Amino acid sequence: MKHIVILYDSRTGTTKQAAAWIKEGLQSVDDVRADCFSIQEADLAVVRGADGVILGAPTYFASLPGAMKTWLESHAAGLGFAGKLGGAFATEQYVHGGGETTIQELLTFELCCGMAVYSGGSSFGTPIIHLGPVGLSGNIEEFRELFETYGKRFATFCTKQSL
Ligand SMILES: Cc1cc2nc3c(=O)[nH]c(=O)nc-3n(C[C@H](O)[C@H](O)[C@H](O)COP(=O)(O)O)c2cc1C
Repeated sequence: MKHIVILYDSRTGTTKQAAAWIKEGLQSVDDVRADCFSIQEADLAVVRGADGVILGAPTYFASLPGAMKTWLESHAAGLGFAGKLGGAFATEQYVHGGGETTIQELLTFELCCGMAVYSGGSSFGTPIIHLGPVGLSGNIEEFRELFETYGKRFATFCTKQSL
């Protein structure tokens, strides 16, 4: 059994919705248990016990929100990320609004903590996911399959690893 936790920030609910779809994708894979927390409500003991962690954020000025960066920096020592599998996703308002930059920053944080990171990958065909999934807040429903597929791929990869 692999346990995967999603940790997200969300002010107006879009990233929270994306996180819920990723959780559905994770749970569609056998022998995977998934939990989903906002950073404000995160149970750090549960996070520390996970095999994999996926971070998600809205895009603010082509970056992650300052509040989430502050939260990650202040909790880094207690997250227990080292040696685990990490992933990241983002939402944005505009096409080319910086969602991929946000994901890169989240993945960089995970790498600094000693995680191995997974993107979702292009080798599985459509939907192509290079760094992680990004959804647009104006029509987030159209990205449901993308987020669910990412969750499924992440969980499938995680179950094959002995990290
Ligand atoms: C302060 C602020 C800055 C933002 N900057 C960007 C931006 O640079 N690019 C973009 O595409 N959207 C930007 N947005 C829009 C949000 O990224 C987008 O609506 C997101 O999906 C909101 O997520 P949430 O509903 O989970 O809070 C910004 C929103 C706020 C409040």
